[in-house]
Amino acid sequence: MGKILTSKEALNLINSLPSAGVDDHWKAHSICVGNVAAIIAKALNLDCEKAKVLGYIHDIGKSENYKMHDVAGYELIKKWDMKKSTPIFV
Ligand SMILES: [Fe+2]
Repeated sequence: MGKILTSKEALNLINSLPSAGVDDHWKAHSICVGNVAAIIAKALNLDCEKAKVLGYIHDIGKSENYKMHDVAGYELIKKWDMKKSTPIFV
C-alpha cells in the first residue's frame, strides 16, 4: 500500500498515455469526471482530492483497450503499482 496519487500526478499520468486507436476523447472526459467528482465531494464534505484523482483515472484502461477498458485499467493499475512502484490507492 502507498499514498494516493495527487490530482496533478493523475493528470500528468493520463496525458502521458497513448490512445488506443479510436480517439483521445476519453482524456477530456476523464478530466471532466474528476473535476465534477471534486465538486460533488466538496458538497458532501468528502475528500475532494481523492474524488478528483479517481475521476481522472477511471477510464485509464482506454489507453490500451477501448472496448475492454475496465479490465485493461485494472491490469494497468496493478502493473504500475507493482513494477513502477507508483502508488495509486491507499
Ligand atoms: Fe467514463
